[in-house]
Amino acid sequence: MGLYRNVDRVMADLQASGLGPDDPLSVADLTPFDQYHYEGTEAVDDAATALGVSPGFRLLDIGSGLGGPARYIADRWGASVTALELQPDLNETAEALTNRCGLSEVVTHLNGDILAGVVPAGSFDGIVSMLCFLHIENRAELFGHCARALVPDGQLFIDDYFALAPLTDVEQASLADKVLCPYVPDLKTYVADLEAAGFVDVEATDKTSDWKAFVNDRFDAFSQRRPELVDRYDEATVNGLDEFYESVASIFSAGRLGGIRLTARRGQG
Ligand SMILES: C[S@@+](CC[C@H](N)C(=O)[O-])C[C@H]1O[C@@H](n2cnc3c(N)ncnc32)[C@H](O)[C@@H]1O
Repeated sequence: MGLYRNVDRVMADLQASGLGPDDPLSVADLTPFDQYHYEGTEAVDDAATALGVSPGFRLLDIGSGLGGPARYIADRWGASVTALELQPDLNETAEALTNRCGLSEVVTHLNGDILAGVVPAGSFDGIVSMLCFLHIENRAELFGHCARALVPDGQLFIDDYFALAPLTDVEQASLADKVLCPYVPDLKTYVADLEAAGFVDVEATDKTSDWKAFVNDRFDAFSQRRPELVDRYDEATVNGLDEFYESVASIFSAGRLGGIRLTARRGQG
């Protein structure tokens, strides 16, 4: 994985808010910058509600990025969160941000690959994973690891891509190359793979129209702020983000890529 570059961009964002590298932080200082999924903390509140998070709930966040959702759920909902992130640089920055928020007692950062079996079995009441599974092709293995990590009846919440219709070769190549998304299942296949791993009560909400609007607005807003952002980061970082946001917006606009929110429960088996 090398998609998420310029990890230190968040430091420039904080600096622009008047917060220096050693200043203590609140979760609210960070949420404009540390949510690497669609619809910000509103989506995280949806996840916490769907999972039934209450104080002490043991939550695993798979593909936790800068740790934004993990810190928010720990702070606002009282969960005890293990934040698993593949990229060492993102994990290190996430951990430093968590320390600066005074949340290291309730958010534990773990660097590793969910496919490598790095999380203890039967240890979590719930799993949240926002826009991470799109990077992982082997769904049988992935959902097997999710099921093993949960207690029986543990809940799973996923935000991910799915195929509304077969993607063109150009779309598949663009997703693989620009988004590091090697595989996009249709909904029937997605649900069947979850059920094959022992999940039950699978419920799906089509998020396509909301996410299409979100990624288009994100690209427009980014284009308008380009000069300010070149000053804040640098030209190469802005060009990279511009290309990424444009690619995602244009694939959603073409109508074959969809967004899906899934909830499921680990069966007793
Ligand atoms: C779009 S980002 C989302 C980050 C975070 N969930 C959020 O919403 O802010 C996807 C993250 O998944 C991580 N990731 C991808 N494959 C992974 C894997 N096999 N195991 C753990 N993390 C992974 C990436 O490194 C990246 O940080």
